[in-house]
Amino acid sequence: MNNYLTPSRRALKDKNIIIGICGGIAAYKTPQLVRLLKKKGADVRVALTESGSRFVSELSLATVSQAQVYRSIFPPAENTGSDFTTHITLGEWADALVIAPATANTLARLAAGFCDDMLATCFITLRPGKPVLVFPAMDGQMYISPSVQRNLATLKAQGAIIIEPESGELASGQCGTGRMPEPEAIAAYIEAALSVTHPSLLRGRSIVITAGPTREKIDDVRFISNYSSGKMGFAIAGAAAGRGANVTLIAGPVNLDTPRGVERIDVESAVQMREVAGNFFRSCDIFIGAAAVADYRPAAVIPGKLKKNNPEIQFTLVKNPDILSDFGFQKQAGQLAVGFALEQDNGPANALKKLEEKNLDLVALNFSDRKTSGFEVDTNMLTLIERGGITTELPLLSKEEAARKLLDAIENICRQT
Ligand code: C5P
Repeated sequence: MNNYLTPSRRALKDKNIIIGICGGIAAYKTPQLVRLLKKKGADVRVALTESGSRFVSELSLATVSQAQVYRSIFPPAENTGSDFTTHITLGEWADALVIAPATANTLARLAAGFCDDMLATCFITLRPGKPVLVFPAMDGQMYISPSVQRNLATLKAQGAIIIEPESGELASGQCGTGRMPEPEAIAAYIEAALSVTHPSLLRGRSIVITAGPTREKIDDVRFISNYSSGKMGFAIAGAAAGRGANVTLIAGPVNLDTPRGVERIDVESAVQMREVAGNFFRSCDIFIGAAAVADYRPAAVIPGKLKKNNPEIQFTLVKNPDILSDFGFQKQAGQLAVGFALEQDNGPANALKKLEEKNLDLVALNFSDRKTSGFEVDTNMLTLIERGGITTELPLLSKEEAARKLLDAIENICRQT
């Protein structure tokens, strides 16, 4: 594996970290976590929920963090000082927000955008690009419930890093998935998140990403399209925004929430996608074509609804603009073009040919069986091919993790150019 994929062991030094603690039995591990992070050089503040305070004492947390513990967004009545805006400044201060344990109730509050205590408010006021790590911990049945899974999916779509709970014995005495990882493991996750996001070479760069399918109209009620769900492109957009990039996401028709910190423009056809993308080419630093753009469109759109009177009909299809190729050839020194190649046979050779033909800097080769990899599913297996044929084979990963690896590779190219 390339060096640039390894997290830094000193990533916590001088970092400002908020630990959000909710009301679950795993909260008893959090003073230990706070101590560990302090030992690694981090400055830690605790945002404790009302229920969290039933499981772990404010005094213990204040002692180990050597700081005030925050609960309500309202300052105490006796406060006559300048401490009236902490509900905003605390979130702005943080390099990372870690919610451990995250309970079903707080997941619902965060997914719905509530600001009813300091933890929920920090989630909203955290600066774009700063990582949010969520460690759900609860009873196994609660964890797999549709409500919890829906709220986790919402937070994930907004860019939060969700760390699956571990399996083992739960507080109920039963075995299941719901255990919070040990403090050492949590610290390692935070180190990994901070070592890629800070300092990220993508911070402040403008990245334009196309995602999802396009729809090519046949008549006013029918279209030609494909199975793309947009998940890969949206995951890249969320991960890039998480690293502090200014991300514009040009999305075909998909059923996905906009990732946190991303500007999204919805389009329908390839021609519209090309037109919108064209407005951003000149000023962007990196263009990533993750959309499954239809290669052809009907030459003419039939007005109204096509009648089924004829035993057979014929369409003429005309070629759509190749958005990525256009950018590949328009790009100036310092701009990068990245694409995907969905290949069946001879993958690496065809992907490299595509890289050369479209004048790209990186191609992510994948395949689609619609079960483990490619269209619609939540995982993908990418092979990253750079100029000169430099190849990095990635294993089957969640699309979020695959997106992070792709961005690592892009950062590596930025570093060399
Ligand atoms: O040539 P092919 O369609 O295999 O290339 C795939 C790559 O090119 C993807 O990154 C896709 O987003 C991009 N593409 C495009 N416009 C097209 C066709 C493909 O931007 N019309």
